[in-house]
Amino acid sequence: MYKCRIVDPDDEDIAETLADLHRATFLGGAAVPRFSSGAWWLAYRGSEAVAFAGVVPSTHVRSAGYFCRVGVISRHRGRALQLRLMRAIETHARRIGWRNIVSDTTDNIASANNFIRAGYELYAPDVPWAWPSSLYWRKCLLRT
Ligand SMILES: CC(C)(COP(=O)(O)OP(=O)(O)OC[C@H]1O[C@@H](n2cnc3c(N)ncnc32)[C@H](O)[C@@H]1OP(=O)(O)O)[C@@H](O)C(=O)NCCC(=O)NCCS
Repeated sequence: MYKCRIVDPDDEDIAETLADLHRATFLGGAAVPRFSSGAWWLAYRGSEAVAFAGVVPSTHVRSAGYFCRVGVISRHRGRALQLRLMRAIETHARRIGWRNIVSDTTDNIASANNFIRAGYELYAPDVPWAWPSSLYWRKCLLRT
């Protein structure tokens, strides 16, 4: 019923769709990222894009991707789309040879639960990059 696919953010229509989904899900609570950097996925229901996620090379951890954004529009929440997008990103990360994926959540139980479901562990980075209340997540891709 839902299909996830990696998309080309250099395509103007795709970039606009990513920006629209970002606005609809983060509601101005986070800066719109530069979609031209990293790799991005959309989840579709039929022809409608209903969720997005992206990963960029981590600037803090060597050989790691930073899972930088995920958003599901509200009427399609509760269908494990974040988890599906995380799995697509993990497959991509393994393919390009990253050893880890790292991320953070801030006051976000639904998203944190998805990190747990996807097998991430909490950790304390040497140099925390987010907010005092943020949780930091890491998944080692070398383990099976
Ligand atoms: C975080 C987010 C991506 C999770 O979306 P998702 O993939 O649909 O999440 P899930 O399928 O795991 O569902 C999350 C919870 O919402 C519940 N839910 C069910 N229907 C829902 C609905 N219509 N609206 C909201 N939540 C609903 C689910 O039951 C689930 O609860 P549970 O964890 O107790 O089982 C989504 O809430 C979102 O886009 N939030 C705004 C942007 C954001 O916070 N991004 C993450 C930044 S770290």
